[in-house]
Amino acid sequence: MNDILPADTPCWQYLEQAIHRVLDAYGYQEIRLPVLEYTSLFERSIGDHTDIVEKEMYTFLDRNGDSLSLRPEGTAGCVRAGLENGLLYNPIQRLWYIGPMFRHERPQKGRYRQFHQIGAEAFGMAGPDIDAELILITARIWRALGLTDHLRLEINSLGTKESRAVYRERLIDHFSEHKEALDEDSRWRLAVNPLRILDSKNPALQELIAAAPTLIKHLDKESAAHFDTLRLMLETAGIDYEVNPRLVRGLDYYTKTVFEWITDRLGAQGTVCAGGRYDGLVEQMGGKPVPGVGFAIGLERVAAMLELGDNRFAKPPHIYLIATGEGSSLQALKLAECLRDALPGLRLLAHCGGGWFKKPIQTRR
Ligand code: HAM
Repeated sequence: MNDILPADTPCWQYLEQAIHRVLDAYGYQEIRLPVLEYTSLFERSIGDHTDIVEKEMYTFLDRNGDSLSLRPEGTAGCVRAGLENGLLYNPIQRLWYIGPMFRHERPQKGRYRQFHQIGAEAFGMAGPDIDAELILITARIWRALGLTDHLRLEINSLGTKESRAVYRERLIDHFSEHKEALDEDSRWRLAVNPLRILDSKNPALQELIAAAPTLIKHLDKESAAHFDTLRLMLETAGIDYEVNPRLVRGLDYYTKTVFEWITDRLGAQGTVCAGGRYDGLVEQMGGKPVPGVGFAIGLERVAAMLELGDNRFAKPPHIYLIATGEGSSLQALKLAECLRDALPGLRLLAHCGGGWFKKPIQTRR
């Protein structure tokens, strides 16, 4: 968990504002969500047998004996808030949120236990046009931040729950035939969540994974048509992408479209933004069947790409006001307030606390 220090906050403010402006331009409204939720919310939505729920949540009993968890992501809380506050009765909602998320992962460059996301979630729209809109939003954000050349888009379709169940059986057949070649983790995954084997980074398994049947070939008709139209829309909008049939994502709620924006500049933790469709989730959480789709951007990773600490984000004062001599400090106070009234946006730093003023001038140069 990191402190974000004053030398770095200008970069964070810059990127948060740039992303906010783009979301605003597409008509997305901000929703502010609690960082604590009932643990069962994440178990039911992200899935019992995902790495996040099995190994990574910060979970504790509160004074009432209720099991609570620090949120590991924002989609589940957003759906809960939508349901509890009747937002999902409206046919259409476009929402966004920002804030810290918590996962007890092994920390490394680009992977932290408290990290920050800006996420967007769109509800009530079943067609691929909204999937395309969300991808276009992210592409516009990269353009606004000057990062387009360093990011590539990967997309895939996970189909409906039903077509995924059929695929799951094929996958179990394939990996069961080579069970002796699997590592301990993958054997466990084979029993509870075989799709996640496709995500394994173990080099010894890559050949077996490459030979596995692909989901995209087992898609139901409707998901295949949805995916084809999305591809056409991206091509029409001039967005380059790659279809990655191995892209399965680590959360169980996805259906149909999934996507990730990836960079080679950050080493192993190169996924800067990820998202997809989750058409069954609202109903699964007790609502009416309302389709949903969204993404979340990992802000630490974007900040790292913007070269944190870079001076171009610094905000030095326009004026440093020093009063010297008897009685001058009252005049200086008046003058400073006058200037602030007259020149909105002026950054005026007043020399306070008395003492010798040479030092502040030197350090500000
Ligand atoms: P996710 O892939 O788990 O998806 O996280 C989204 C992004 O958050 C990642 O691509 C990465 O940039 C950042 N991230 C995740 N874990 C860490 C970490 N430990 N340290 C630093 N950055 C991290 C979700 O969270 C979904 N809720 C996205 C979504 C929204 N899908 C639909 N709507």
